[in-house]
Amino acid sequence: MDATDMGSDLQQVLITEEQIGQRLDGMAAQFDADYAGRDPLLVGVLKGAVFVMADLSRRLHMSVPMDWMAVSSYGNGAKSSGVVRILKDLSTDIRGRHVVIAEDIIDSGLTLKYLLKNLQSREPASLTVAALMRKDTPAQADIPCRYIGFECPDDFIVGYGLDFAERYRNLPYIGILKPEIYQ
Ligand code: PRP
Repeated sequence: MDATDMGSDLQQVLITEEQIGQRLDGMAAQFDADYAGRDPLLVGVLKGAVFVMADLSRRLHMSVPMDWMAVSSYGNGAKSSGVVRILKDLSTDIRGRHVVIAEDIIDSGLTLKYLLKNLQSREPASLTVAALMRKDTPAQADIPCRYIGFECPDDFIVGYGLDFAERYRNLPYIGILKPEIYQ
């Protein structure tokens, strides 16, 4: 899927495929250095984090186990419903493990606030977050996020895992959706 396939739905390209790749290179190098000899577990948050998990993990020099959670707070709307639900839990016991949650985006921070509290109660050795994007909103302050790809504006963005009503996830870069599409 590319800009042509988007028709006129996209207002602008925000982060190109090349920029994402370069930033993931940097995040992977930092991850390799931080977790050398510690056997970390990568936890992807479905569905949005599929692309970050795939592309970040394949850049690592260590072999990293992966597990998945499915959490939803958005439904098909443009705004958070405020209710976080676990749709699929981990199949790994994370007690004593070094856990890194991979996310596509931190927006209101609601999803991660819930997830961090939930996973922390399972007594991992450490717990942090790798997110490709973080929106520049005040709610981020208390989210311990070790790896951040990009700070981004508070626009409605899609692509690279981010959807609107389940569409546009497979766009290989990140773009801003035209307001008339989601309003
Ligand atoms: C998206 C995204 C994050 C979350 C971030 O997931 O993948 O998990 O929203 O938003 P927040 O910081 O405001 O909580 P969503 O619930 O839309 O599910 P999806 O990954 O299946 O698209």
